[in-house]
Amino acid sequence: MTSKKRLCLDDFEKDAEGCLDPMLWNFYKGGADEEVTLRDSHAAYLRYRLRPKVLRDVSRRDLSTTILGHKVSFPCGISPTAFHKGAHPDGEIATARAAASAGVFMSLSCGANVQIEDITKAAPGGLRMMQTLIYKNKNITELFLRRAENAGYNALLVTVDFATYGHRRNEKEFDLYGVVKTNPAYKKLKCVNMEMMGIKEEADQFKAAGDKLLWEYNDTSDDSATWDYIRRLKKISSIPIVVKGILTGEMAREAVGAGVDGIMVSAHGGRQLDTAIAPLDALPEVVEAVKGSNVEVYIDGGVRTGTDIIKALALGARAAFIGRPVIYGLACEGEEGVKEVLGLLKNEFSRAMAFTGCARIEDIDKSLVSHRRWMYYDSKL
Ligand SMILES: Cc1cc2nc3c(=O)[nH]c(=O)nc-3n(C[C@H](O)[C@H](O)[C@H](O)COP(=O)(O)O)c2cc1C
Repeated sequence: MTSKKRLCLDDFEKDAEGCLDPMLWNFYKGGADEEVTLRDSHAAYLRYRLRPKVLRDVSRRDLSTTILGHKVSFPCGISPTAFHKGAHPDGEIATARAAASAGVFMSLSCGANVQIEDITKAAPGGLRMMQTLIYKNKNITELFLRRAENAGYNALLVTVDFATYGHRRNEKEFDLYGVVKTNPAYKKLKCVNMEMMGIKEEADQFKAAGDKLLWEYNDTSDDSATWDYIRRLKKISSIPIVVKGILTGEMAREAVGAGVDGIMVSAHGGRQLDTAIAPLDALPEVVEAVKGSNVEVYIDGGVRTGTDIIKALALGARAAFIGRPVIYGLACEGEEGVKEVLGLLKNEFSRAMAFTGCARIEDIDKSLVSHRRWMYYDSKL
């Protein structure tokens, strides 16, 4: 049990700031450029208001649903975020255990500090996705796929909003990657799965560049990649392919055409294209575009309460994922903190179902939400 009472995810965020060194706090919380999309991602949820339904029998509420055919305890999951060891020494192991005990999906970042296979060992009963970029060296992407398949991952999550690295002023200010390279205190932040690849060509590059590629893994993202590569991945993969970073109906149609199994509507937590549309605002057109296919649609970015989750579902998402709140949970209390974050969200979601007259996930539909274009005004937007 934890000593401090935290009543909502914002409490974790406030406390995490005090637990983390300023460089890492800024890395985790920050977004690209002026952080408009970062702020708008959450604000978009506040522009929707809920329309309650009363006098329904909600005495026995079933919060469970499925993601890619796997049962999850409620429609929430963990998005991939790099560097969990910066928040807690147990890093992604703690996250995996918490996700498994909460009965939700965890996505492992390509920038994780723990081996792909060790996640399976730590939480053998857990549900997991392996996230990858499309690397210039396709052997890396395909090795991530093979290792994920062999380690029993349930899907490959391919981040497609990474043609280049977003301009995150906080990172530049602190020279995060430079510090990590030169300061032994930050060796724990190594992207260990890149080191393990064991590809000759890659090994030679490591030799030539010293440690460089370990840290600057982002620089190896392929800005010439097209949907053809997603088609290739789909062909060679024995596990479902989910693309992460879709924000328009047009791109969703192209994803369906490429044969994907799932789409994560995401603005990368506001860390890539600033002033990109907020994921919740993009959701309806994506849902419309995939109609008639079997493609599942998920969303992340700015989800902080159970009412956010029910709004996302009302607009057609199958599940809503969280990124930063997991890091804040880890920073405050390690595995226990992530469990608490998920537990708080689940309770809030359960209450939201009760107040909106929903006993089952299938009861959640568009009639629950009302859009108020200017209801939430943030002068910074
Ligand atoms: C510190 C940090 C690291 C991230 N690392 C990755 C990553 O390695 N791969 C990826 O696809 N997305 C990454 N993301 C984006 C998240 O997967 C997710 O889209 C975003 O955090 C969701 O928004 P939220 O933090 O408001 O919940 C990262 C986000 C943060 C905050």
